[in-house]
Amino acid sequence: MQFRPFALERYFAKYEFAVEHLLSASDPESLTLQELLALADTQSLALWQELKLAYTESQGHPLLREAIAGTYSSIDPRDVLVAVPEEAIFIAMNCLLRPGDHVIATFPAYQSLHEIAGSLGCRLTRWPLSQNGERWELDLGLLADSLSDDTRLIVINFPHNPTGFLPERATLDAILDLARRRGVYIFSDEMYRRLEYTPERRLPAICDLYERGVSLSGLSKTFSLPGLRLGWLATADRELLASCAVFKDYTTICGSAPSEILGIMALRAGERIIARNLGIIRANLHLADEFFVRQQDRFTWLRPQAGPVCLPRLLSDLSVAALCEGLLERKSVMLLPGEVFEFGDNYFRLGLGRRDFPEGLAILEAYLDGT
Ligand SMILES: Cc1ncc(COP(=O)(O)O)c(C=O)c1O
Repeated sequence: MQFRPFALERYFAKYEFAVEHLLSASDPESLTLQELLALADTQSLALWQELKLAYTESQGHPLLREAIAGTYSSIDPRDVLVAVPEEAIFIAMNCLLRPGDHVIATFPAYQSLHEIAGSLGCRLTRWPLSQNGERWELDLGLLADSLSDDTRLIVINFPHNPTGFLPERATLDAILDLARRRGVYIFSDEMYRRLEYTPERRLPAICDLYERGVSLSGLSKTFSLPGLRLGWLATADRELLASCAVFKDYTTICGSAPSEILGIMALRAGERIIARNLGIIRANLHLADEFFVRQQDRFTWLRPQAGPVCLPRLLSDLSVAALCEGLLERKSVMLLPGEVFEFGDNYFRLGLGRRDFPEGLAILEAYLDGT
């Protein structure tokens, strides 16, 4: 198995801990341990105080899987496998795919969502998002035309990283309908689910809609706890989940004991954490709205429909690569160039979930205006 380097992760590895402001982070402002403990219910606080740092149950702590199942409408704790989010992608792809399988994946994408399929010897079709006036859009006709007898899997990610695109329910239903007719699996990366700006726009999780649907979620984004390294797969396909559990014995075997208990606390306090994050994102989105009006000669911007990221485009003669480099070297601000998504044409990702977004944005504007 041979992978190309994970361009985004290599970029973050180089700069994330070396700069003062991250203007492209996809994880909203992290909670401190103290903040999380202050949100804890009595039972999980007792579990934390009595915690033994032993091996944990491979499938995940029963109370954790119960809290996870509670975030879906039809999922039982037995339908959940706890794993690190990135690990869960790796496990699911390895268990779903064989060399020669055809995979269709939304594009641009978090690289592992298509890279692992490619490295397993699958034939990959990129299903591109395109700009239609004020919105990002997915062409269902392209999906229908791409499906073939050997298509095994469709990979989707809504709310989408890096564009902030969120399709209408009818689009999701149409994807589902095309998949169901051919018995194709859907792997749905729902890491940013519940960060919709209005609750009516929230799409159902794929594991609640489709017997061959696999939902990926976790605590890194929506719950502001990336340091817990905690996520999960949820699917009604018990055979597939069992094969994922067997595979996990060769990755991490079981989860981290402290993370599991802190995860139970976080899920139980989910609504409060999400409300906090949406508050930060909304305030930053308002600043971004004003910024892109002031800077309309320099950028085009499709306002995100959900989640903490979006993908503006620089219009001026300056290349995004040069802008990113200049900001890093002279201002200690990190912007993520679209190139890391193999999505050139002067796009860059902007992250709206951090508390220092106003300072970072002001530095970007001053840099552009040469002040
Ligand atoms: C869409 C998407 N899926 C999965 C992941 C992986 O999450 P984690 O870094 O917590 O493993 C990320 C992280 O950026 C992501 O953006």
